[in-house]
Amino acid sequence: MKISSQQLRDTYLRYFESKWHKVVPSASLIPENDPTTLFTGSWMQPMVPYLLWEKHPLGTRIVDSQKAFRAADIDDIWDNRHTTFFEMLGNWSLGDYFKSEQIEWIWDFYVHELGLNPEKIYISVYRGNEKFGIPRDEQAVDMWREKFMEKWIDAKAVDMAEKNGMQGGRIFYFDEKENWWSRAGVPENMPVWEPWGPDSEMFWDFGEELWLHEKSQWKNQACHPACDCGRFLEFANNVFMQYIKTEDWFEELENKNIDFGGGLERIAVALTDTPDVFMGDLFDGIRWKIEEFSGKKYGENEKETKAFRVIMDHLRVVVFLIGDGAVPSNKDQWYFTRRMLRRAIRFARDLGIESGLSLEVAKVVISEYGDHYKELIDQKDFILTEIENEEKQFLTTLEKWLKEFGKLLSGFQIAYERSGKKITQIAGGKAFKLYDTYGFPIELTEDLAQEHWLSVDRDGFEKAFEDHKALSRSWAEQKFKWGLADNSIATTELHTATHLLLAGLRKVLWDHVFQKGSNITAERLRFDFSHDEKVSREDLDKVEEFVNHAIQAGMSVWVEEVPKQVAIDRGVVWSFWEKYPDVVKVYTMKSENEVFSVELCGWPHVGQSEWMGRFKIKKEEASSRGVRRIKAVLIKD
Ligand code: SER
Repeated sequence: MKISSQQLRDTYLRYFESKWHKVVPSASLIPENDPTTLFTGSWMQPMVPYLLWEKHPLGTRIVDSQKAFRAADIDDIWDNRHTTFFEMLGNWSLGDYFKSEQIEWIWDFYVHELGLNPEKIYISVYRGNEKFGIPRDEQAVDMWREKFMEKWIDAKAVDMAEKNGMQGGRIFYFDEKENWWSRAGVPENMPVWEPWGPDSEMFWDFGEELWLHEKSQWKNQACHPACDCGRFLEFANNVFMQYIKTEDWFEELENKNIDFGGGLERIAVALTDTPDVFMGDLFDGIRWKIEEFSGKKYGENEKETKAFRVIMDHLRVVVFLIGDGAVPSNKDQWYFTRRMLRRAIRFARDLGIESGLSLEVAKVVISEYGDHYKELIDQKDFILTEIENEEKQFLTTLEKWLKEFGKLLSGFQIAYERSGKKITQIAGGKAFKLYDTYGFPIELTEDLAQEHWLSVDRDGFEKAFEDHKALSRSWAEQKFKWGLADNSIATTELHTATHLLLAGLRKVLWDHVFQKGSNITAERLRFDFSHDEKVSREDLDKVEEFVNHAIQAGMSVWVEEVPKQVAIDRGVVWSFWEKYPDVVKVYTMKSENEVFSVELCGWPHVGQSEWMGRFKIKKEEASSRGVRRIKAVLIKD
């Protein structure tokens, strides 16, 4: 069936509305009140409280088309199916219907509403694991088999412990690497009280040709739905969200949930049986714009196809990120916007495009998506100005950087001619110098190096970076005394109040607020944070209220030691990762049913808020450009 992606989105929302679901608008790509992650990468993130304890104001059945950004996929933007940004069609049962209704409806939607050919649909399910005491999902298999049987297809289920190819199967049992869903990855890494569930994915078969064609690097390997040859495309994921990790191990949730997610772009290409998501109609306008600017046609050769895909993917997400407030800069979420925009501009060079493409593509994205994502229309001028400025800024250093890189290459060539020794790696110190002098993201240096069959000594780069930071830090320590003046109770209480203050500022002023410095004595706290303008008294009052509410709620402080990488992966928001050792302490301040603050820390805190008193902001003033300073006290009435 040929329908546009806009119609597809509507058809899905209407279908689940007819099953008594309420349509909700998409959440922001920058999570609100969720300190555990940098971006909304799945629809589950904004929904976690409703999976566990909170009542959703719209009831127990929800449907949506959600923006999602998975930064981890940046390096995969060269194949036919990965995009960092995608729209996820999602339906949720919050302790309402479960597996049988979900399988019944989703099958009905794809096969009857959209008319997908069931012969081309394949399924995966969880094969269970004794170690976790979770059984294989035979129940789902029986339900799927019945659905296929209605279409006269005998769906054989095969175990994929060894991943030995199709074996005549239609339904495949995989382990937790493929068929396990949680926000926090594999079972061992999941924190306590994290909900999760086994899942069942649906795949579209584009045909054996994609696996076996002459140039395929996979043709001598076994093919199955979860392999990477491009034959199968996962277009839907039914998560049976029914467990929670506990201190002991796993427990079954009293109320079982459904979390369904289907990538709109992927369903669109399954519908037209086109095995390249970048050929889907959602990319048409963007692709045509690049063709117009470059005079080249998409898909003509491998190198240019990659450049097209990177540009299409990156510019689209940059528009959405800025629309949600993540303007290009060097910090946290903001760095991704910068990195992706700059990467797109650099790849546009490979297609012979000097400048100006980003702005024109951004206009296309805004006009094509604006109907459904109204924030793009509201923020149009802001988005376009940010993109234009960032491009200008980048282009002034790009030339110099490329020249410097060229010099490096000819140095390698001369060394080779003189000594016959081929250099295959760019030294870390050199890569750092390029980064430090020209602000050129290391990932871009790596991209370019790869094109010249070179690698970058990433460990050496990190070390040079650390050394540089250690130097600036010892300098900064002279200038500005970080941390606590002493270990007295009064100082410790003010330190705990500082964490709450940061959380309050981020809540009231937004997520661009990061700690820039802190100095605490027994009398007062002094706290510097990123923010461009004076904070109104009204907002200061709200921040005070937040802190006092936490104190009065009988909040307690919990500390957990986790490997730094785990905290980063969980997305704990923090500005000074480099200051911390490999294992970090994550401090969570919470009452029985509210989490107030989650931060890294190494200094002492009070255990309970009971004696902290009343928090009062005494002064708010400028500290340096883009940085404000607050002085505050705890009053013991
Ligand atoms: N959480 C699942 C996913 O993101 C389904 O929505 O794939």
